[in-house]
Amino acid sequence: MAYSPPDPSTCALDAFRYSIAERVAAALPPLTVDQVYSGVDYGKKGVDFTIALPRFKLGKVDDVAAKVVAQFKTDERIESITHDKAFLHFQCKNTTMIREVLTQVHTLTHDVPNPCYGSNDSGKGKTVIIEYSSPNIAKSFHVGHLRSTIIGGFLANLYKACGWKVVSMNYLGDWGTQFGLIATGFEKYGSYEELEKDAIKHLFDVYVKVNKDAEADPEVKAEAGRWFKRMEDGDESALKNWRVWRELSVKKYSEEYKRLNIEFDVYTGESMVGKEWQDKALIRLEEMGLIDDVDGAKIVNLEKWKMGKAVLRKKDGTSIYLTRDIGGAIERYEKYKFDKMIYVVSSQQDLHLSQFFKVLELMEFPWASSLQHINYGLVQGMSTRKGTVVFLDQIIKEAAQVMHEQMQKNEEKYAAIEDPGERRPGNRYNGSQDTRHGREKVIFVLIASISLLDIAHRINNYTFNWDRMKSFEGDTGPYLQYAHVRLSSLSRKNPHLLPLPPPSQIDTTSLAESSHAREIIFLLGTYPDVVKVALKTQEPSGVVTYAMRLSHAISSAWEVLAVKGEEDLEKARARLWMYECTRDVLGAALRLLSIRPLERM
Ligand code: ARG
Repeated sequence: MAYSPPDPSTCALDAFRYSIAERVAAALPPLTVDQVYSGVDYGKKGVDFTIALPRFKLGKVDDVAAKVVAQFKTDERIESITHDKAFLHFQCKNTTMIREVLTQVHTLTHDVPNPCYGSNDSGKGKTVIIEYSSPNIAKSFHVGHLRSTIIGGFLANLYKACGWKVVSMNYLGDWGTQFGLIATGFEKYGSYEELEKDAIKHLFDVYVKVNKDAEADPEVKAEAGRWFKRMEDGDESALKNWRVWRELSVKKYSEEYKRLNIEFDVYTGESMVGKEWQDKALIRLEEMGLIDDVDGAKIVNLEKWKMGKAVLRKKDGTSIYLTRDIGGAIERYEKYKFDKMIYVVSSQQDLHLSQFFKVLELMEFPWASSLQHINYGLVQGMSTRKGTVVFLDQIIKEAAQVMHEQMQKNEEKYAAIEDPGERRPGNRYNGSQDTRHGREKVIFVLIASISLLDIAHRINNYTFNWDRMKSFEGDTGPYLQYAHVRLSSLSRKNPHLLPLPPPSQIDTTSLAESSHAREIIFLLGTYPDVVKVALKTQEPSGVVTYAMRLSHAISSAWEVLAVKGEEDLEKARARLWMYECTRDVLGAALRLLSIRPLERM
């Protein structure tokens, strides 16, 4: 299936699909070119494009196929047609495909203000809010938040690549009774010194201790409730410490997001949802007769939709998580007039999200239908190797450690990346030269690998495995980085071929004769569709798979299509050009996944 109307200016292969559609439509009136176009699929194994004839409902497929085959004329783009049962298969003409795809990758990467190969403008003029990560300050940033961060970061990049205006938002869990509890505990267990050192960890320790107390003594809980009430009432003496906690937590998180290559346009939080919006929502729901008053608590009955009864306001008048989300959504709509708003939140909160979407729908906000919950399953087994509670920085540190060990074991592999003649101190990792530079890079590499494992399966619950993460073989982040580094090193190693002439003056005939080159270049041509499909499925896994396929294709081409040592300079130049284009596309795919591609290791 074609993914959108043809646009050869952003996807060179569209011109090939269109050529097929024109010819098939001409043979099969009254089918229109557009009808046929939407039925031109990528083929399986070794086939460029395929049409499944039964979809057109034109009668006996053999007769229909024979008609098309008899009338089909090849042209500069389409070289052959074959009939196989219910299918028609088509092959592109290598020389044209190779030239058009490489020229497009080159032009849209280098000859425009912003590299944009793979992008499209299907979202032009539309605004999307993507809320992700949203950890709770003073509580651990657990692996679920890491997944939300990575999936959300991916979606933000993706929507931008499709022309949307994206507002990325971090909605901190910075409000609620638990802050009354921490405040109570802080009086007993808190230390400003510890707080300065590591706010999140210290507050978590306090929380754990006071939580224990509260379980043993109901008075501790009651005290926490009273404290939170004072916070809600805006009592400055109750808010003072809380402000410091929030600020220190945000500071710490920002540093970690930077390491993950993740950014937010807006840091907001539950504490920042305007009270007036929550009040207005309650009044409106009451007017609509949707609220039950149970001993002073306000409850909305959603049993009709199998969503239970949801509390919107407690007896003591304090707000809760659900009310803040309802008020927050209204407030965001007023401010941004979004066309779509996405919440990336673990599937453990499915009920919560469906309740608050339902309430907004019952309130008859027309935009309620443009809210979307993107959920994901649990990650099992991802704790530090020693303990169980996982903070983001522990995960990062631990991953760095694992990688460090791995690199020491893999000297040989590393030596292969840079030509030994070019090796300079600090240029690559080696056990004795533990430069900062090297360290930083190592961290990026390994973060790439965490990300990949993490995001490739959005819904499935999967079990995290440290051993898999550190592998340079198989489908891991380091494998992709390794491919990118090798591609990037080619021009450094072949200065005699530089600068490459402009695309029109590179002779690509030799590439057309190689099945390896053809496979790589056709894959490059499919990248704009990979982006479109990802937008449809809102899944990063297709992009991960694509990057893997491309890297596999390159690794089987290295030997056959060498650049260094190739005496025919025309050939060597064409290959170098192909590898440079491949590096650009692999780099774009990695960046879409929030991974910073490495040039060197
Ligand atoms: N802070 C919440 C948690 O860690 C996640 C927030 C999700 N977003 C929302 N709008 N409710 O569980």
